Amino acid sequence: MLKIGSVTLASPLVLAPLAGITDLPLRTVNRSFGCELAFTSMISARSLAWSNPKTETMLRTDSGDRLLGVQLLGADAEMLARAIDKLAGYPFDILDLNAACPVAKVVRKGEGASLMKEPQKLRDLLKVMVERSAVPVTVKIRAGWDTGNRNACDIALHAQDAGVSAIFIHGRTRSQEYRGRVNYAAIREVKKALAIPVIGSGDAFSPRLIKQMFDETGCDGVVIARGALGNPWLFPETHAYLADQLISARPGSEEIVAVMRGHLALCCSFYGDLLGTKLFRKFFSWYSKGFLNIKPLRIRAFAAATQQEMLHVIDDMPGLGMEPGAPVYITHDAERIDRNNAVFEDNDD
Ligand SMILES: Cc1cc2nc3c(=O)[nH]c(=O)nc-3n(C[C@H](O)[C@H](O)[C@H](O)COP(=O)(O)O)c2cc1C
Repeated sequence: MLKIGSVTLASPLVLAPLAGITDLPLRTVNRSFGCELAFTSMISARSLAWSNPKTETMLRTDSGDRLLGVQLLGADAEMLARAIDKLAGYPFDILDLNAACPVAKVVRKGEGASLMKEPQKLRDLLKVMVERSAVPVTVKIRAGWDTGNRNACDIALHAQDAGVSAIFIHGRTRSQEYRGRVNYAAIREVKKALAIPVIGSGDAFSPRLIKQMFDETGCDGVVIARGALGNPWLFPETHAYLADQLISARPGSEEIVAVMRGHLALCCSFYGDLLGTKLFRKFFSWYSKGFLNIKPLRIRAFAAATQQEMLHVIDDMPGLGMEPGAPVYITHDAERIDRNNAVFEDNDD
């Protein structure tokens, strides 16, 4: 059981906020595989305060989309307070502040990981949020700014002092961005120092790596981020592995294709045929990772303009050199890290 303030979770696995990726269709797919708490994409407090129509789309949800976390990006107390007031009409369960985003245009404004450099300011912002919010407030931090400034413990203690209900910590520094291996020691130190739950993030690519995060850090929960891209099976596989160390069989190609069709349909009904198909293209690459001779199909998928065209490409998948029941994913952990990083870099738009 993971308890975040008044919210009790049966599963310790959380679907990460992933900017531009964790929309309602992706959350719906992962929930059908046992994901319990999922996050929206990061939402700018300023845009929300000014009712930017794009933020309305990012906040769209439905009755099956719970438990839901909303993550705000901001460094201005008044904007955050106004954003929280705007959120009053939306159904969600947890409110998170992003103090982890490494992107240059974000940190230049003093937002995201930049807040790691200002512990007192972060505490003050979180205090405002805790006072204003009707749901439990959490914060996502990193191991530090860079190798010389690994101050996660100090930051986490300031956040706890502000009254947050849990800490999410990505065990890389801002300067590492998403490269290199996660630093379990940084997460372990934070866990040891705090009384509130600590949820670890980094290299959650396989059941074994997720168990390693629990074992080496003592954390209360783990965030699944890049590992979930094209791989919602990671949720049930990890639940099984944590319960009894069983390694599940990887899904066959027929099952992967069925999930792709369902995900594409959700994208098209959410965004409309053209935009839904366009946004699905990157998911095609993620789902099809590991299939043999997939490159020509990827090229076709990236040219597909309508749901029908994308379906034709998806329907051509199982015949591509797959033996019935053959594994389609590389299962060795180290290879899988490379695989996920490579997939991400290939398709980062
Ligand atoms: C494309 C992309 C977008 C991300 N967007 C967010 C975000 O909006 N908010 C956030 O807190 N973390 C974000 N992250 C970080 C992830 O939530 C996670 O902490 C990080 O990827 C480390 O986990 P992993 O190594 O298991 O992928 C993003 C990561 C990626 C790759």
